[in-house]
Amino acid sequence: MAAATRAAAAALALAALVFFLHAAVHAGAAATLSQGQSLGATDKLVSPEGIFELAFFAPAGGDPDRRYLGVMYAQAAEQTVPWVANRDAPVNAASAYSAAVTAAGELQVLEGDRVVWRTNTTSSAAAAGTGNVTLNLGDDGNLVLSGAGGAGGAGPMLWQSFDHPTDTFLPGMSITLDRRNGTIRRTLFTSWRSAGDPSTGDFTLGQDPLGSAQLYIWRGGGGGNATAYWRSGQWANTNFVGVPWRSLYVYGFKLTGDPPSRGDGVMSYIFNMYNSSEFRFVLQPNGTETCYMLLADGQWETVWSQPTIPCQTYNVCGANAECTAGDDGQALCACLKGFEPRDPAEYGGGNWTQGCMRSAPLGCEANNVSGGVGFADMPWMKLPNFAVWGSTVGDDDACRQSCLANCSCGAYSYSTGTGCLTWAGDLLDIYQFPDGEGYDLHLKVPESLLETGSKKRRWITVVVVVVVVIVVLAGCGLLLWKCRRRIKEKLVIAGREKPSPQSLLPLREARQDFSGPKQPDQEEAEGGGKKCELPLFSFEVVAAATGDFSEANKLGEGGFGHVYKGRLPGGEEVAVKRLSRSSGQGLEEFKNEVILIAKLQHRNLVKLLGCCIQGEEKILVYEYMPNKSLDAFLFGLLDWKTRFSIIEGIARGLLYLHRDSRLRVVHRDLKASNILLDRDMNPKISDFGMARIFGGDQNQVNTNRVVGTLGYMSPEYAMEGLFSVRSDVYSFGILILEIVSGQKNSSFHHMEGSLNIVGYAWQLWNADKGERLIDPSIRAACSPREALRCVHMALLCVQDHACDRPDIPYVVMALGSDSSVLPMPKPPTFTLQCTSSDKDDGIFRDRQQADESYSACDLTVTMLHGR
Ligand SMILES: *[C@@H]1O[C@H](CO)[C@@H](O)[C@H](O)[C@H]1NC(C)=O
Ligand SMILES: *[C@@H]1O[C@H](CO)[C@@H](O)[C@H](O)[C@H]1NC(C)=O
Ligand SMILES: *[C@@H]1O[C@H](CO)[C@@H](O)[C@H](O)[C@H]1NC(C)=O
Ligand SMILES: *[C@@H]1O[C@H](CO)[C@@H](O)[C@H](O)[C@H]1NC(C)=O
Ligand SMILES: *[C@@H]1O[C@H](CO)[C@@H](O)[C@H](O)[C@H]1NC(C)=O
Ligand SMILES: *[C@@H]1O[C@H](CO)[C@@H](O)[C@H](O)[C@H]1NC(C)=O
Ligand SMILES: *[C@@H]1O[C@H](CO)[C@@H](O)[C@H](O)[C@H]1NC(C)=O
Ligand SMILES: *[C@@H]1O[C@H](CO)[C@@H](O)[C@H](O)[C@H]1NC(C)=O
Ligand SMILES: *[C@@H]1O[C@H](CO)[C@@H](O)[C@H](O)[C@H]1NC(C)=O
Repeated sequence: MAAATRAAAAALALAALVFFLHAAVHAGAAATLSQGQSLGATDKLVSPEGIFELAFFAPAGGDPDRRYLGVMYAQAAEQTVPWVANRDAPVNAASAYSAAVTAAGELQVLEGDRVVWRTNTTSSAAAAGTGNVTLNLGDDGNLVLSGAGGAGGAGPMLWQSFDHPTDTFLPGMSITLDRRNGTIRRTLFTSWRSAGDPSTGDFTLGQDPLGSAQLYIWRGGGGGNATAYWRSGQWANTNFVGVPWRSLYVYGFKLTGDPPSRGDGVMSYIFNMYNSSEFRFVLQPNGTETCYMLLADGQWETVWSQPTIPCQTYNVCGANAECTAGDDGQALCACLKGFEPRDPAEYGGGNWTQGCMRSAPLGCEANNVSGGVGFADMPWMKLPNFAVWGSTVGDDDACRQSCLANCSCGAYSYSTGTGCLTWAGDLLDIYQFPDGEGYDLHLKVPESLLETGSKKRRWITVVVVVVVVIVVLAGCGLLLWKCRRRIKEKLVIAGREKPSPQSLLPLREARQDFSGPKQPDQEEAEGGGKKCELPLFSFEVVAAATGDFSEANKLGEGGFGHVYKGRLPGGEEVAVKRLSRSSGQGLEEFKNEVILIAKLQHRNLVKLLGCCIQGEEKILVYEYMPNKSLDAFLFGLLDWKTRFSIIEGIARGLLYLHRDSRLRVVHRDLKASNILLDRDMNPKISDFGMARIFGGDQNQVNTNRVVGTLGYMSPEYAMEGLFSVRSDVYSFGILILEIVSGQKNSSFHHMEGSLNIVGYAWQLWNADKGERLIDPSIRAACSPREALRCVHMALLCVQDHACDRPDIPYVVMALGSDSSVLPMPKPPTFTLQCTSSDKDDGIFRDRQQADESYSACDLTVTMLHGR
């Protein structure tokens, strides 16, 4: 009897132990659920780095009796659920519910023994003949069901949650339209019903099934009776036409696949933030799409939202009418020029469902191209829907002509991002942005509408204007002549006068700089916004971190001092730039760098963690880049894929500096040694000691010093002190050539006569031997088309004349697409002529040409001072 009791007790203990072990597998940091295992009410599946977890949850603010299986952010302060499995079939909190990977190779959610949700993968698992199926949660938030792949490796993928999204678009996912074989398959996101109810809601987001590459939000499901609620506008290579102030591209968002209008294949928006889980796009229950960023304290910050005012919702004003926002955001509708309300009762505004129609026909109908039409210019537009893309039309004038030549064309628009777009028929969903953003639309109207008033009145106007202009010009000339001296003096002083160090610190970084212009509601939400202070380190801490600036910790030396590796008391690795007391970098450059970089936040810019000013010491503390600089590390070691992604990364960083940071920064010293590489070989632009901010709408900056690195400086900057964003483009062109060829520009002094890398590249290119420029160590394995396209782009970037160089948005566009045709570069005359005997003459002639073209580009002369 006692033996039996003991045996029973032992069995019980064993059972308890087994139970304990079983639970421990799940409750711990398990990243895998194997076949036959299950996830109970309190268990979690955690991603390897602990960023995401899969568990049952009760939605905050929802029915406390309902439980859903979902993927959640582990670090967020409040419950954040980017993916839900059984959204329409909750399990009861009181039941014995679980999730299990079955022997047949399926993930199921069970309420007792009843299967309420399943992945339907048994047949594909059987077809693939996989043995043990496992469920893994990745650090990107993707839940993957895969077959066995031998020893530890993942086998064929059977199912992934990224293919079955709920309401959240995460980095690594794609928004796909697949129209192959005449069937339409697309990624659709569906909102929750309400904040506390994950069940299928009213709104759906996805790509336009017609293949225009626009994103839509529909009310009432993705097809059938759904009505459009919001339209992103055309993709302009770095941003959507309807959201012009956000270059989504700089955050890794881009369109891949067949270009619009050839949309009979696969087109995907991908959002590749490397391994980032900082961003998410969510389709809210009320139909608003919001992009959030995760801050260090676990809070989510709104980066952008659409739509936020009635004008941004789809076609509020009806056909051929434009919407402008009133003072409190309400929609104000007006007919386009040459149009009148369809329903005269609508004159008073308010009900605009009927839209507008042409007051009079254009007069070119029945193939009657009478020439009696012109174009009314409409600036700052969200371009209308249903555009036709003229893939072969390469500039504004050609686009205009193509519209003139076709009577059914009612409007056109051209920009480098969108290319040539024309419209036939009604113009739908037009919004005028209030802040000078957006695109130019040219509306075809009868010529009579372009002439204002009678001829007599026009004559009088012309005469008056001419007289006024002459008087004003004469006055200005006189004033200028008188004040020239004084202005010059003032500029010199302005260049030197900067606030004292005390007034600069602590630096505050305004988030506004990061998120671009705000829409009214956002401004309110962030007005009192979060600001973060740049930490000040004491000299003692920095000295201790770097082993008292020991030689062993030295990473390198720049023009202005030494850079050391350090380890902060918290264990964080940092790079410490200590400016030498005798260095040329004065307090001015130092403050410049601190102010600038503290305001800049981008993945492809090196991050400033803090600074230290103590007595004579001026020290900057940066994030540590284990792979050092491109200069020290790159050449000869990297494969083509990495090199291309480095080129793309630098382009993103530059795009952010030139356009998206809202500060409009010209770096002025872009070179290989200023490109740092992180652990994953992502490039980061560093060293902002020379950078200058272009304020507001300015296109120019005065400086009293010419600085930079020979070999990377554009001709107009090196020789005449003129600089603009296009001087950075020049340096970027040199960088591309160096990365493709694997050779430093400076190494060319002793080779191939006295040509530099530009002349060398041009000669090879011109002789149709461009592929000889590609680094021999990667020539066999790289994509020659891609590499040659890079060389082509580089040659455009290093054009002698700033105006001939593309801007960064264009570079980004052209690097990313195979389809657009690049213009032919002109020969680099500076480089070629400098090597010939009539050197001086060549430079002189070019200066004269240069003066003409530069003035057209809004560059200014910098006063030259020795350093
Ligand atoms: C599995 O198949 C059933 C029946 O066809 C369907 O109702 C359910 O939505 C499918 N589940 C998933 C996750 O696709
Ligand atoms: C499946 O897993 C079990 C236990 O882990 C193991 O014994 C078996 O060999 C596995 N089967 C395959 C096909 O990998
Ligand atoms: C399209 O059809 C072809 C031939 O019928 C087939 O080989 C191909 O796999 C199909 N593609 C897709 C995506 O269904
Ligand atoms: C569209 O609406 C009509 C009437 O409301 C309804 O009969 C029909 O089933 C709906 N179609 C779809 C695809 O929802
Ligand atoms: C993401 O991180 C993993 C591991 O650190 C690395 O192997 C991979 O290359 C990274 N991916 C990208 C796109 O940076
Ligand atoms: C939709 O919901 C979001 C989040 O709750 C809110 O910020 C936004 O103002 C709402 N938009 C509208 C149009 O109601
Ligand atoms: C607007 O006009 C449509 C059609 O004429 C009508 O059905 C609707 O009720 C009107 N709406 C308002 C708010 O007046
Ligand atoms: C062609 O246009 C001109 C000017 O608008 C008009 O006078 C003429 O009648 C038109 N001819 C036809 C055939 O429509
Ligand atoms: C005229 O333009 C419309 C739309 O812009 C286009 O659909 C049509 O094919 C064009 N016709 C010709 C003859 O080019």
